[in-house]
Amino acid sequence: MTELFPWEGKYVLGIKEIDDQHRMLVGMINALHDGLMSGNGREVTGTVLQSMMEYALYHFKTEEDLMQKFGFEGYTDHRDEHLTFMESIGEMAKRHGAGEYLVSLELNEFLKEWLANHILSTDRKYAPFLRSKLR
Ligand SMILES: [Fe+2]
Ligand SMILES: [Fe+2]
Repeated sequence: MTELFPWEGKYVLGIKEIDDQHRMLVGMINALHDGLMSGNGREVTGTVLQSMMEYALYHFKTEEDLMQKFGFEGYTDHRDEHLTFMESIGEMAKRHGAGEYLVSLELNEFLKEWLANHILSTDRKYAPFLRSKLR
């Protein structure tokens, strides 16, 4: 099966803990896609939504704690992007709970786009700063 979201070198930020967490999130998005392709979309969506929300929260906290600890100046804007994401995924969980069927395809696309863009633009901004502090 073709992966929806293949992991690529361009996503590596050079901070092991963060890179591992990003790979985990990418894996969850691919698991959702596999579920959709095999016709278990509705069931898988509920499970993946739940684990994504929990793991994303945990991952965001890791990044926010590091940015705060070392006084990264872009902290507030970055945290706001995380908050907006949690609101969107919360909204989708609500729609899923209300029985909206197409939410799974929409969710899958949204998750992939959001995470890829967030890693490549927003997370990338703190990478050199945190790498120099963590050395
Ligand atoms: Fe991240
Ligand atoms: Fe982030």
